[in-house]
Amino acid sequence: MGCGNIAAKFASDLRLVDDAVLVACGSRDKHKADAFAERFSAAHAFDSYEALAQSDLVDAVYIATPHSCHYENTMLCLENGKATLCEKAFAVNSRQAKEMIRFAREKKLFLMEALWTKFLPQYRKLQEILQAGTLGDIHAVLVNFGFMPRTPTPARVFDPALAGGTMLDIGIYNVFMAMSVLGRPQSIEACMKPAYSGVDEQCAVLFRYDNGAMAQLFSSFMSQLPIEADICGTKGRIKLTHRFYSLDTAIEYYPDGPESRQAIDVIKDAEGHGYQYEARHVCDCLRKGLAESPVMTHADTLSLMEVLDEIRRKSGIRYAEDRE
Ligand SMILES: NC(=O)c1ccc[n+]([C@@H]2O[C@H](COP(=O)([O-])OP(=O)(O)OC[C@H]3O[C@@H](n4cnc5c(N)ncnc54)[C@H](OP(=O)(O)O)[C@@H]3O)[C@@H](O)[C@H]2O)c1
Repeated sequence: MGCGNIAAKFASDLRLVDDAVLVACGSRDKHKADAFAERFSAAHAFDSYEALAQSDLVDAVYIATPHSCHYENTMLCLENGKATLCEKAFAVNSRQAKEMIRFAREKKLFLMEALWTKFLPQYRKLQEILQAGTLGDIHAVLVNFGFMPRTPTPARVFDPALAGGTMLDIGIYNVFMAMSVLGRPQSIEACMKPAYSGVDEQCAVLFRYDNGAMAQLFSSFMSQLPIEADICGTKGRIKLTHRFYSLDTAIEYYPDGPESRQAIDVIKDAEGHGYQYEARHVCDCLRKGLAESPVMTHADTLSLMEVLDEIRRKSGIRYAEDRE
C-alpha cells in the first residue's frame, strides 16, 4: 500500500521469501500502480487503497505510506480483515498506536510494526553478544544518524502534515537501538532545531538510567553525521559501523582501546536489502495463526511510541494529531 521508495525495496526483497507472493499493489494513482505491478510482477494493480484492502486475493498488506497515514491505512486494512505490517514509525503518537493495536486484537488479526532492524542477522548477533556479557556492564550507548536529504527533497521529509522531521523518520532507529541495549530510560532530555516547516531538522536526545547509564542520540537532516552505534561497557565496546540499523552494517568488537579491533562474523543472505527477514517472520507468524509477533510485540511498539512521544514533548516537536 503506497508505491514509493521503500515499497519498491520491500517488493524486490519479497522475491527472496519462499512462501510470499506479491499479488497486488495499491496506489492513489492508477499509472503508478500499473508501473509498480509491472516492475515487480504483481498480478493486480489497484488505483485506491480501499480497493486493495477489499481484495479477496490479498492475505496481508504492507503499509509503506508517510507516518501520518499509518493510522488510517492500518484501520482500513484491519476493517477489511487483512493481516497488516505497518512501516515505522508505527503511528504519529502512542494514542493512535494503542487504538490500532486495540482494533487488531478485537478483530483477532495480525498486526506488526515493520521495524526491520530487529530481524536482521546483525541485530541478532548483537543480542547474543550482549546476553553473553562480553562487554561487562554497559553504561554508555552513543548513536548518530544524520545525512543531507537529496534534492528535490521528498515532501514527507519536512511536511508537518505527513509527520515529517528526523525523529519519527530516522531518530527512531537511534531510540530503538538504545532501548534494545539499556531498556526504557528512567528520564529523557531532548532538544531540537526546527526546519523551515517547524518539524525537527536536527534533534539531540539524552536517556538516563537509575544505574548511571546514559544514551546519547543525535539525528539530523542538516549534518552529515556518522550513521553508527557504539555500545560501551566496562569490558569493551561494540561498534556497529555505517548504516548501523541495516543489513550493510559490520560488527566490530574493541576489548581494549582503538587498536584492539576484532571483526565479528555474521552470516547473511547474499542478496536483498534486508526486508526479506521481516517478511519471512510475518509469513511464519501467519502460518502459525498468530495475531501478534513474538519478536516485535505490541508492547515493544507501544513502549517505543511512548518514548518517542516523550522526546517530542521535551523537544517541542508537535503534530496536529497530538491535539486531537
Ligand atoms: N524500513 C526502512 O528501511 C524504511 C526506509 C525508508 C522509509 N521507511 C518508512 O516507510 C514509509 C514510507 O517512506 P518512503 O521513503 O517509501 O516514502 P515515499 O517514497 O514518499 O513513499 C510513500 C508513498 O506513500 C503514498 N502516500 C500516501 N499518501 C501520501 C501523501 N499524502 N503524500 C505522499 N505520499 C503519500 C505514496 O504512494 P502512492 O502515490 O502510490 O499512493 C507514496 O509513494 C515511512 O513510514 C518511512 O518512515 C522505512
